Amino acid sequence: KVALLLRGFMKERVLTGIKPTGYAHLGNYFGAIKPAIEMSKDEGIDCLYFIADYHALTTVKTREEMEEFTYNIACTWLACGLDPSKVIFYKQSDIPEDLELGWILCNLTPKGLMNRAHAYKACVEKNEAAGVDRDAGVNMGLYNYPVLMAADILLFNSKRIPVGLDQTQHVEIARDIAIYFNNRYGNIFTLPESFVEKETSILVGLDGRKMSKSYGNTIQLFTDEKTLQKSVNRIVTDSRLPGEAKDTDNTICKLYRLFATPDEVQDFERRMLEGLGWGDAKKELFAKMNQTISPMREKFDYYQSHRDEVDVILEEGAKKARAIATPMLAKIKKAIGITR
Ligand code: ADP
Ligand code: TRP
Repeated sequence: KVALLLRGFMKERVLTGIKPTGYAHLGNYFGAIKPAIEMSKDEGIDCLYFIADYHALTTVKTREEMEEFTYNIACTWLACGLDPSKVIFYKQSDIPEDLELGWILCNLTPKGLMNRAHAYKACVEKNEAAGVDRDAGVNMGLYNYPVLMAADILLFNSKRIPVGLDQTQHVEIARDIAIYFNNRYGNIFTLPESFVEKETSILVGLDGRKMSKSYGNTIQLFTDEKTLQKSVNRIVTDSRLPGEAKDTDNTICKLYRLFATPDEVQDFERRMLEGLGWGDAKKELFAKMNQTISPMREKFDYYQSHRDEVDVILEEGAKKARAIATPMLAKIKKAIGITR
């Protein structure tokens, strides 16, 4: 009863991870990082945000890239306002308990469930269409990906998992694995739920499709101004000339809305309808973006040139995370009979 009461008073735990598989882009910022930082300002919520470097290992093949992308994501979180005194911020690879739990969970995970996981299934379908071996190019890291993700989540008894739509299946799998475990060994794990920002928050990329590293249509969040300007200039538009009316359902307007005040948006959209030229519209979009990004870019550059400070922040975060993970793993090992 006391435990139940205590649980009622405990803060809700929110956990999410981002893989260091490339440079952070505007889609990551608006779809994941910004809302997660907003959430961390709520005193009633206990936040754990981490860099999923072991997950990135399925696709990142060189030491240089792993290091580069890991610092890019770490510095991005910090530049965007993550406060390490409010959020437990760490690297997945600093938590060995995560891998130990991953192995335990493998033994409760039906292989068939992994066959149906979408990332693996997508590879198989692609291979079959190409007429090659169905498992060509698939490593065990990719195949077991959802089990490690379940360990990331369950190790901390996380309740709410903010993710993109494509990741909801993985959170469902984590929930299924938690249920198998609890049924066999007693109620150890909290059942997690995914939390998806409204679909309207899917940001479009340069070509009008969802902004994603895999489509090569991203606008990198932190680059120098010139590169940002060049990216904005690459936004695909049609051949309507200045003076011709333009509807406001275009990529430039969609991006402009994220950076400007409602009044500015109204004014901009009115001028688009009146025939503002694409070139001028892009200049205005760049100026608005840069206004928001500049102060964050300064912080980003600071952390990039003070990587040892970033290391210390992540080490401190790992200590806090392990203070939760170590007793939790001990409890799990006891539950399965490996320790007394
Ligand atoms: P990518 O598709 O570029 O590989 P990731 O899968 O690494 O991006 O995404 C990391 C986080 O950023 C996820 O939580 C995801 O939902 C969010 N995200 C990525 N792209 C977008 C987008 N275009 N709009 C909104 N959120 C996005
Ligand atoms: N798989 C997630 C992605 O690709 C990243 C991730 C790894 C994650 N472990 C997690 C997200 C745990 C939420 C919770 O975006």
